[in-house]
Amino acid sequence: MQNLKNKLKHPIFQCISQTSERLGIDAYVVGGFVRDIFLLRDNHDIDIVVLGNGIDFALAVAEQLGIAAKNVAYFKNYGTAMFHYKGAEIEFVGARKESYSHHSRNPHVEAGSLQDDQNRRDFTINAMAISLMPDSYGELIDPFHGLEDIKSKTIRTPLDPEITFSDDPLRIMRAIRFATQLHFSVHSDTFSGMQRAAHRIDIISKERIVEELNKILLSSKPSIGFLLMDKCDILPRILPWIAQLKGVEVIDGHGHKEIFYHTMEVTDKVAMHTNNLWLIWAALLHDVGKPATKKYVKDIGWTFHQHEYIGSKMVVKIFRSLKLPLNEKMDYVKKLVALHLRPIALVEDEVTDSAVRRLLFDAGDDIDDLMLLCEADITSKQQAKVIRYLHNFEIVREKLKEIEEKDRIRNFQPPISGELIMQTFNLPPCQEVGTIKNAIREAILDGIIENQYEPSYQFMLKEAEKLGLTPKK
Ligand code: CTP
Repeated sequence: MQNLKNKLKHPIFQCISQTSERLGIDAYVVGGFVRDIFLLRDNHDIDIVVLGNGIDFALAVAEQLGIAAKNVAYFKNYGTAMFHYKGAEIEFVGARKESYSHHSRNPHVEAGSLQDDQNRRDFTINAMAISLMPDSYGELIDPFHGLEDIKSKTIRTPLDPEITFSDDPLRIMRAIRFATQLHFSVHSDTFSGMQRAAHRIDIISKERIVEELNKILLSSKPSIGFLLMDKCDILPRILPWIAQLKGVEVIDGHGHKEIFYHTMEVTDKVAMHTNNLWLIWAALLHDVGKPATKKYVKDIGWTFHQHEYIGSKMVVKIFRSLKLPLNEKMDYVKKLVALHLRPIALVEDEVTDSAVRRLLFDAGDDIDDLMLLCEADITSKQQAKVIRYLHNFEIVREKLKEIEEKDRIRNFQPPISGELIMQTFNLPPCQEVGTIKNAIREAILDGIIENQYEPSYQFMLKEAEKLGLTPKK
């Protein structure tokens, strides 16, 4: 039997071992922490199972460590307790036999053995335990051969998948998330179980689904997860807007680009270059407006007119529906979706200073993220086209740098304030003030005047004159 004593470096384990001996209660470390020992991943979430009352045991360990009882959080209904100690979050629970009611996730809990506890875990790789009792300290208890599944990179349920997924349908998402994060395959029996249980994902809260989705998006190749979600048919249930991107319509022998696979490519490319979750969401949603705007125009072909605008409006609906934050994160995703064609439109035409200035003005500090998204969006199969676009992109980047250094448009603050216009012409707040301010901004963006006080002031005087205004004496 494998002994993992030397992997239990955190001081909490010795303390749990002593408490276990003192109280005569068996204790084990289980789940993700054990799995991650073998995957060589850092894990600071330590789950402890005891054959007794988890809360009492946690309080006894806390007392031994000098942690006040008020710093132990516990949930009587679930029999769990948690506290933080030396950089780790340690959760205690009494081993249980568990059955879930069919319509909700609230489990009916009954005390059980370690084997019962391992039976009710999601996957074999998460169902391993290590003994913390002094006489068997460090011994691995692996009844479902989780270690072999780690070696063969397999996600598999310990019990009949029917039972495991019906106990908690969120596990369908967890299987996909682990497969994506770890580059593991889902065992075919387990996958069939996921397909059969797919409809039950509807009972899971949006927040918990999104937590898994975010982990998928933050992995090195999110498309693995999305293709699995599609294959087991939960994609239309949780992200219908993305499922609708699938397929190619053909009219007069002309098909359009497959949007779902294109979206996957773009999302992967962006995820490869950033850990910014919201930028990856923007990549996922950048073409979400295409199905609604798709049109076949004779002699022209397929068009998706204004899909960026419709898509950016859909972002609000999607964020609301998924209970994603309706704050500046959403505004950022909206903005990137709305602007995602702008850099490419720039390179298709001649790259003028004024177009670059306007892009800088509209994108502000998010210009670099927008450029990353837009560059990832170039996925044509025609290699020559891709090379030409990427080359033109370099020109845009150069121009962006040059103009930013010269004109400082990125976080544009008008050199002439509305206040100053009112003072100069003795005006109350009125339409004329806005007209003059806009004219100055436009002149700066068009490169007619420089983004500086003096030329802007002179320009203001001229604009005011056109409106019949004269400076007060
Ligand atoms: N678990 C489960 N079913 C779930 C959630 C969790 O059986 N729906 C079990 C698994 O044994 C898992 C453990 O509870 O290993 C801890 O779950 P959690 O902390 O959510 O995830 P980890 O597996 O630790 O993975 P990660 O830290 O990557 O989220």
